[in-house]
Amino acid sequence: MPDQKINILAIESSCDDTAAAVLCNGKILSNIVATQEVHQQYGGVVPELASRAHQQNIVPVIHQALAKANIVKKDVSAIAFTRGPGLMGSLLVGTSFAKSLAMGLNIPLIEVNHMQAHILAHFIEEDGYDKPEFPFLAMTISGGHTQIVKVTDYFEMEVIGETTDDAVGEAFDKSAKILGLPYPGGPLVDKYAKEGNPKAFKFPKPKVDGLNFSFSGFKTAVLYFVQRETKNDPEFIEKNLKDICASIQYTIIGILMDKLKKAVKETGINQVAIGGGVSANSGIRQALKDAEKKWGWKCYIPKFEYTTDNAAMIGIAGYHKYLKKDFADYSITAQSRYKF
Ligand code: KG4
Ligand code: ZN
Repeated sequence: MPDQKINILAIESSCDDTAAAVLCNGKILSNIVATQEVHQQYGGVVPELASRAHQQNIVPVIHQALAKANIVKKDVSAIAFTRGPGLMGSLLVGTSFAKSLAMGLNIPLIEVNHMQAHILAHFIEEDGYDKPEFPFLAMTISGGHTQIVKVTDYFEMEVIGETTDDAVGEAFDKSAKILGLPYPGGPLVDKYAKEGNPKAFKFPKPKVDGLNFSFSGFKTAVLYFVQRETKNDPEFIEKNLKDICASIQYTIIGILMDKLKKAVKETGINQVAIGGGVSANSGIRQALKDAEKKWGWKCYIPKFEYTTDNAAMIGIAGYHKYLKKDFADYSITAQSRYKF
């Protein structure tokens, strides 16, 4: 750990959350998220509305993050920002703001890959939370991604499996939409699933080679199932909502765990971390706790505030790049498809 105080101001704007955080030597001083409610009425994120809301939110969110951290702009050592992947219009707001602020303050600029940050969130200094040791496997599960990553160092990551179509968060959200639940439906499916019978209904699991995933067929299976059942009984959804949600969740978690088990077997690495919005799901959290008991894995489950999009994870990734003096040029641009 360095002697001096390294204060990173981090900015995240890849999708529909405008977020800023301040970290001092890897410890969170503030972590502010403005979630955009405007998308709910459309049943999904509307990119143009997202970028406009980012523009409105970014200044107040950054002010709040600095105020809560009790620091002023001249105390900031570097600005870290999400370069991608994400929605181009959304990324542009955070990227332009970060570039201008770093240039204005004449301090280093650090670019961060959003998916790497979901993984590096496990390195935030938190009492009561162990940090993973390298190498470990990370499963990033969100509204835009589903990946299994072999992590050999902070920035040495290899994607060994990923979705060939929809992300797992979309499988949750689209199934929820079919059931008439508002966007984003993932947390609601989770909520109802807690009181339902996971074996009440059976949904097919996709057959995909290797460590890759596919969720588009699952969503169609849910659609056909609901259409068939509501034809027989128009009140089918209301009468069975909890059981349907529990069965959907049980199937999705089964798909994720099957691939994770395969990845552990193939790599011989049984340290497993999860990240991304879907890692807030109670089913996957329980499945990993069970895996520790049943198969002797060591599992890392993030704190709730670091599961969905946040700037603290961008800050911790930025901090580790700062230590390596891995700075970006002020001419850097956003990248909506950003592989690592
Ligand atoms: O990481 P994130 O905030 O944004 C993206 O980068 O996509 O993930 C959002 C996704 C949404 O699909 C949301 O429905 C899902 O995470 N999600 C959940 C839960 N909480 C959030 N899915 C299932 N169960 C949850 N408890
Ligand atoms: Zn995310």
